[in-house]
Amino acid sequence: MQILTTPRAMQDAALTLRAAGRRIGVVPTMGFLHEGHASLIRLARARADVVIVTLFVNPAQFGPNEDLSRYPRDFERDRALCEAEGADILFAPGADSVYAADASVWIDEDRLSRGLCGASRPGHFRGVCTVVAKLFNLTQPHVAVFGEKDAQQLRILRRMVRDLDIPVEVVAGPTVRETDGLAMSSRNAYLSPEERLQATCLRRALDAAASRLAAGERSAAALRAAMAEVIAGAPLARADYIEIVDDETLEPVTLIGRPALAAMAVFVGRTRLIDNAVLRP
Ligand code: PAJ
Repeated sequence: MQILTTPRAMQDAALTLRAAGRRIGVVPTMGFLHEGHASLIRLARARADVVIVTLFVNPAQFGPNEDLSRYPRDFERDRALCEAEGADILFAPGADSVYAADASVWIDEDRLSRGLCGASRPGHFRGVCTVVAKLFNLTQPHVAVFGEKDAQQLRILRRMVRDLDIPVEVVAGPTVRETDGLAMSSRNAYLSPEERLQATCLRRALDAAASRLAAGERSAAALRAAMAEVIAGAPLARADYIEIVDDETLEPVTLIGRPALAAMAVFVGRTRLIDNAVLRP
């Protein structure tokens, strides 16, 4: 596996691979990799000749009071995981090499980003869209793989690819979970043992909504109440948002008549976790 650390070296390598007719798959990440990331690398492996994993903790998607400086990092472990999963290139650019000091062009999706995490994290998806577009230009992928775990991010990036005519196929991978249901996340590393136990409330809340729906409940308010009740039962948890939105438009719904997305962000202690499930009537 090759390790590239400058945007220039990455783009040169990608253009050479393209010219040689190789099919490129990319898996963008912020590192501290886990089995969720590994599953995406395997999806890329099955769809491309050359798999590039990018590892960059993108300052532009963190708010001023968020966890940029303490975001977990372990380059040696990430390198070993990428190698074990058969990645061909690990692109890990230095913190200052990705954005020009006076960068002034940004990509702003302004519809799907309004609610959910976009509402609680102003500017977050502008940072995500901009860095992913830059990573696409640097890695020249035919296919890019993202996780359903970040459902709003996935839908926004699909929209960006559509609206900007970016010639990339976006593939989604299902959320990989711990055995007790907690969605794997680099941020789980922040949890104390007691917080880690209570963090299962996110998945339990989604399960409660799904079982109420299966029992015939169609009211989004009733399903949200069922979810909120589960979160309230975990003393260390505090909901940031609990929403049920249309799976395509991400607009709030009142009745579940077509596929809806149950999405939530919950603080467990000081750690903000997200999870979601598609609800099908
Ligand atoms: P990061 O949080 O590192 O996630 C990288 C990719 O892994 C994303 O597509 C995310 O949805 C996926 N992922 C995370 N946890 C997962 C899980 N438990 N199961 C399946 N997939 C999972 O998302 C980002 O980084 C950044 O916003 C990025 C797209 C790299 C732009 O900076």
